[in-house]
Amino acid sequence: MTRHFLSLLDCTPKELRMLVERAVTLKAILRRREPHEYLRGSSLALIFEKSSTRTRVSFEAGITQLGGNSMFLAPAELQLGRGEPLEDTARVISRMVDAIVIRTHEHAKLAAFASQSRVPVINALTDRFHPCQLLADMQTYFEHRGDIAGRTVAWIGDGNNVCQSWINAARQFGFTLRIATPPGYGPDPEILGAAGDAARPVATPQEAATGADLVVTDTWASMGQESEKEVRARAFQGFCVDARLMEITAPDALFMHCLPAYRGVEVASDVIDGPRSVVWDEAENRLHAQKALLEFLLA
Ligand code: CP
Ligand code: NVA
Repeated sequence: MTRHFLSLLDCTPKELRMLVERAVTLKAILRRREPHEYLRGSSLALIFEKSSTRTRVSFEAGITQLGGNSMFLAPAELQLGRGEPLEDTARVISRMVDAIVIRTHEHAKLAAFASQSRVPVINALTDRFHPCQLLADMQTYFEHRGDIAGRTVAWIGDGNNVCQSWINAARQFGFTLRIATPPGYGPDPEILGAAGDAARPVATPQEAATGADLVVTDTWASMGQESEKEVRARAFQGFCVDARLMEITAPDALFMHCLPAYRGVEVASDVIDGPRSVVWDEAENRLHAQKALLEFLLA
């Protein structure tokens, strides 16, 4: 059976912890400049229907470091853009490469693609989940503070794809997620419900942040929601992660953001650029965590 990585629920908690540990090791190997071409001769296809800086660069650099090769395929330049069915594209490309990384809108499209692929398909973000981000975020927490099990994390802002992956992470890594969103912008109740006690909505950003070990946010208008930007900006008033909110957290609380960030909107400059912010480590760890994932799926 081909293993895909469409959400964090495609791995067991044990496998996820192993991936995080391996990411830490691969980071050290790279720092020592030791060759690690464990996937020599492998090739990776990247199909991105949305913009990307971190995900694209980290996958392309990562596979190169592992001795493989990547192909960035803009949908408009594929026959996909002229109406060739997604499933046919999956059947064809998966006979030629070793893994396929996809960033698209509907999660169902990704699942349909994966169902016809002979090789592992990796979710590089859909409107529903962003699991690769969470591998890097878990690695970052472990590096700064140790095990996240038993900790309390505050999600403040939009109940979006990244939030929904944090909900899955809470289940899989054993921490508690408190979610503060404006009314009508909460995560999918089904995803939330499946997490049981691991994740729960709270009434205010203050309630989420009080005593939290980590505060996380993301843009208020995700890719595809550009036309809702103003409406959302009004609805999200009071949800900016600022210094006052960080004051009520645990004394050693960290701040995370998957980036790209909008300073003065979902996060204040003095928080994202301040001493508790680990956003640059999170971004770098995309490289190491995804290399661990590629090794796991391909080696
Ligand atoms: N965090 C993240 O996925 O960034 P990109 O959109 O730049 O890939
Ligand atoms: N929620 C954001 C994440 C970007 C990495 C989006 O989907 O645009």
